[in-house]
Amino acid sequence: MGHSRYELILRAALDAACLGREQPIAAFVDTVAVKRTIRELHEAFPGHFEHAFAAKANTMSDALKLVKNAGMSCEVASPGELEQALRAGFSAEQIVYDEPVKTPSVLHRVLALGIGLNIDNFQEYERVNGLVSASGSSSRIGFRINPQVGAGRIKAMSTATNRSKFGVALEDEGNRDALISAYQENPWLTSLHTHVGSQGCSLGLMTSGIRKIVDLAEEINSLAGDRQVDLIDIGGGLPVNFDGEEVKPAFAEYAAELKQSVPELFSGQYRVKTEFGRTIYAKNGFIATRVEYTKNSGGRQIALTHAGAQVATRTVFMPDHWKIRVSVFDSSGQAKSGEERLQDIAGPLCFAGDVVATERLLPLIEPGDIVVLHDTGAYYFSNPFYYNALPAAAVYGAELSGNDSVELNRWRQQQSMDDMLAVLG
Ligand SMILES: Cc1ncc(COP(=O)(O)O)c(C=O)c1O
Repeated sequence: MGHSRYELILRAALDAACLGREQPIAAFVDTVAVKRTIRELHEAFPGHFEHAFAAKANTMSDALKLVKNAGMSCEVASPGELEQALRAGFSAEQIVYDEPVKTPSVLHRVLALGIGLNIDNFQEYERVNGLVSASGSSSRIGFRINPQVGAGRIKAMSTATNRSKFGVALEDEGNRDALISAYQENPWLTSLHTHVGSQGCSLGLMTSGIRKIVDLAEEINSLAGDRQVDLIDIGGGLPVNFDGEEVKPAFAEYAAELKQSVPELFSGQYRVKTEFGRTIYAKNGFIATRVEYTKNSGGRQIALTHAGAQVATRTVFMPDHWKIRVSVFDSSGQAKSGEERLQDIAGPLCFAGDVVATERLLPLIEPGDIVVLHDTGAYYFSNPFYYNALPAAAVYGAELSGNDSVELNRWRQQQSMDDMLAVLG
């Protein structure tokens, strides 16, 4: 059996002192695997689909450059994400702006630059209407629609519930007619957007929401007598499995289900945009932490590590919804084997809930070992949490080549004390 990619990357990191006694935590992105994932994405959908990366999933500049070079465009949801996307080299036409609560000055900037815009509500529409009437815009503009098809497994990640804060609630009285009137009055409204939810939504739930916005587009177009709405943005949200190495569902499975439910998207009569985030990075990144101490409390064996809520915020605060795989390597980076015992893996923060894995059957963990938190390439180490004033962890792009060699490129150095204290104010 060959060395796993985890062993190869850990050994390279140990050799380069990116990980060790003085550097007890770091995160890694398997860049070859990211490129493979994006290739699979492009192969799964027809060529008229444009795939925007949801920058919130990993907003690091090297992460954005990597997806850009692999042929993706970019979806952003705040002025910071917009700035980061522009600095990564995305052109205005390659960016779509989805901030939930946009100020007038942000709207002005987005429209002046010609960045795509998804309008969240009718009040925002009035502002956009005023700006477009006054100065025009080359932006692709349309409404974000809440198709109200219901929640997936995780309520906090479900954006198409009856009372969701996102988009125009399509089924609420008067909204459909108001939307149709807005499109009839404004030929510059040429797109429709929905994003049913992130993680925990079934393919059927996602496609039922998309079905509803394509029906709306068809109605607008038939009233207009032309193809006024010619861009459908179907959002992201393809769930990621956190329970093993295999990737499921695959993009191809989603594409097949979408083709069944919404064949119009495959005929070429619409341009189609997607906004995948988690599926691009989650399974291609991991956090590695050195075990500082171990102890036994009340009969439970506990490993005390340097990875807690500062890098795995969701998992620590919502452990039932965000259970991640963990595995153990020795201090030389070799996967540990041997008799397994029930163990907890705790982080360094000063609250009792700062535990990233509970009651896991693992080979006995010892001080100096390395614990890997798998599938954390999206929405984990890229979004640090500053409780207890811990610095953002170092992140490396790991380029594996055929002969098992690994080139580590520093994407972010561990935040310096001064920079971290500046964030705290
Ligand atoms: C509008 C929008 N698009 C895309 C995404 C990305 O979702 P995911 O990372 O689950 O693919 C999100 C996530 O919150 C979103 O809000």
